[in-house]
Amino acid sequence: MTPSLLFLIGYRGAGKSTVGALLARQLSWEHVDADEILEARVGRSIRQIFVEEGEAGFRIREAALLEELCRREDCVISTGGGVVLGEANRQQLRRAGTVVWLSADAETVWQRMQADAATRERRPNLATGGLDEVRELLQVRESLYRDCADHVVDTAGRSPSEIVAAILELLKAD
Ligand code: S3P
Repeated sequence: MTPSLLFLIGYRGAGKSTVGALLARQLSWEHVDADEILEARVGRSIRQIFVEEGEAGFRIREAALLEELCRREDCVISTGGGVVLGEANRQQLRRAGTVVWLSADAETVWQRMQADAATRERRPNLATGGLDEVRELLQVRESLYRDCADHVVDTAGRSPSEIVAAILELLKAD
């Protein structure tokens, strides 16, 4: 395990971007948001990429970027919620650094997603949309998140700074 690379994984609305930025500041590391880098490089929102290239096209770009990001050091990386779908991605995550799963129940995730208009604009629906989509996908993904996580932090009812404090505690014990 490379101690200088930390990945935040988890479903949308788990707080990966907000917590990642705060955590990186605490560690005096760089923070990288994988989806933001991808959008900046491609010059299109993820929603547009899904429309033009399909989910498959997006996943190819996501995997290539992950491979590149795994070579960074002293960095907190906030990943996209579906990065764990690829077996190769899961292996890369496990090999490259410490993986922290920010978990949340479907209702919490759905409430946070509704409150976040900017994310709604940029992110496509992945299945049926709504709370049903969250429930459906969480059911499929929870075992994948668990499969690559070194640590799990439940984010429901906790503020970003409380979540950061919990992660720092876990890292101390590593
Ligand atoms: C996705 C989550 C999104 C983004 C893309 C696919 C997913 O990232 O990567 O829309 O499959 O859950 P966030 O988790 O940052 O919303």
